[in-house]
Amino acid sequence: MIYLNDKYYISRGLHRKCYIHPEDNQKCIKVNYNDGAEEETNREIAYYKHLIKRKINWDSLAKYYGPVETNEGIGHVFDLIRDADGQISTPLEHYLASEQLTEKYYDALVSSFKNLKKALLKDRIITMTIKSKNILFQHQVTPENAIESNGKNRLIIIDNIGNATFIPVANYLGFMATAKIERTWQRFLVAIINENKQNRLIKKLVQDINSN
Ligand SMILES: Nc1ncnc2c1ncn2[C@@H]1O[C@H](COP(=O)(O)OP(=O)(O)O)[C@@H](O)[C@H]1O
Ligand SMILES: [Mg+2]
Repeated sequence: MIYLNDKYYISRGLHRKCYIHPEDNQKCIKVNYNDGAEEETNREIAYYKHLIKRKINWDSLAKYYGPVETNEGIGHVFDLIRDADGQISTPLEHYLASEQLTEKYYDALVSSFKNLKKALLKDRIITMTIKSKNILFQHQVTPENAIESNGKNRLIIIDNIGNATFIPVANYLGFMATAKIERTWQRFLVAIINENKQNRLIKKLVQDINSN
């Protein structure tokens, strides 16, 4: 039994609380904290198991390690996404809400978005709605030299993967998966524009993400 407490607490979403793993600070444990969370979590875990079997590359997703028993019920262990300086990576949402941050990381953001899309298509990773609060922007180099070292930044999805209707066909057949990923991706870009109207760089950012 693993004891979680405030000392290890990172953050929460609508369904789950996320803690640093008390026995491994490179991993995190997520526990459900409200009704309705269980169905979401079970669907997601089933899809993670499917991806593990397919031996995908974990460049664009936090790797899943399995369940553990905690004082807050069953928890699920994932890679804890940290920047090179050891800080826990910040959600993409934060970088898009601020025009100043978008400007600072502009080139790194464009290439990281492109790489994320490539990775989803390559490994046929199906997601529910993609949201910028469920993606972390990881700086694998220190923030000071992040701009020069483009390839060292990554966008990593931490939540909401898998398919609502777990239709195996959509998960296996290449062209169906591709079509679904494309649709979900374009909706994600539209949402980014709508959610960040105050940021004058957003439209250009999305254009540049979509260009070759
Ligand atoms: N693998 C991770 N590495 C670092 N932080 C994470 C990780 N997973 C989740 N978090 C943090 O915990 C928050 C809640 O996790 P999330 O999985 O999005 O829960 P929910 O399903 O309730 O939305 C995230 O917004 C993020 O700040
Ligand atoms: Mg979330």
